[in-house]
Amino acid sequence: MKKLLTITLLGSALLAGSAVAQDTLRIGVDVPYEPMEYRTADGELTGFDIELGNAICEEIDRKCEWVVQAWDGIIPGLMARKYDAIMSSMTINEERKGTVLFSDPYFQPPSAWFTPQDSSIDFPAKQTLEGKTIGVQRGTLQDNYATDMFGDAAEISRYSTADDLVLDMDAGRVDIAFLDFPVGKSTLLDSEEGDYKVVGEMITEPKKYFGEGFGIAFRKRDQELADQFNEALATLKDNGTYQELYNKYFSE
Ligand code: ARG
Repeated sequence: MKKLLTITLLGSALLAGSAVAQDTLRIGVDVPYEPMEYRTADGELTGFDIELGNAICEEIDRKCEWVVQAWDGIIPGLMARKYDAIMSSMTINEERKGTVLFSDPYFQPPSAWFTPQDSSIDFPAKQTLEGKTIGVQRGTLQDNYATDMFGDAAEISRYSTADDLVLDMDAGRVDIAFLDFPVGKSTLLDSEEGDYKVVGEMITEPKKYFGEGFGIAFRKRDQELADQFNEALATLKDNGTYQELYNKYFSE
């Protein structure tokens, strides 16, 4: 029998004083990042990462608790033991591998450039970006790439959440947003607020920035936990659970 899965949302401030049961596994996540992690109208945490994470926890027979943490402090929070894993659409790349241990990749979406439908920005090239504002989430690989490639031609606006970026885009303060494709699709292309398009190609290279897909991050000494997650992930892929979630969140 599987243990009942209890998911408790704890703000990081709350967590400091709370006694967390020994067998409870805490997972750090930056919300909102729709459709990967976000809240329903009733405030319940959901999304592809959340549902897949919960399925993994059920599979390894652990109680899991999601701990909401701002993106720019998400790796330090893992190191400080505020939680034991990060499942937050974090791309596996060499730089992060220097600090954390990653699971196998569980999802490999490209990044993409999004502009208002009537924008004249062409395949992001320095000349069409001159004087424009690029919006990114601070501390993401999209931030690193945009800053390194176009930081001299364009102004880079860094937002603490993807939602703040989308709000400013709707308000006309951002000319082009650089996001993980599924997030831009859900928050811009499929939104009711504005009329957006993708410009240029989907970006997956260079690997130095765009890495190997999304992985779950652990402290380096937690190889055993990472192995359990990998095994559970493989089972969920074999038994169709992964595909069900994939269809639910990413099919048209
Ligand atoms: N995939 C990108 C990265 O790893 C962005 C992830 C942001 N995730 C989030 N939940 N805000 O840099």
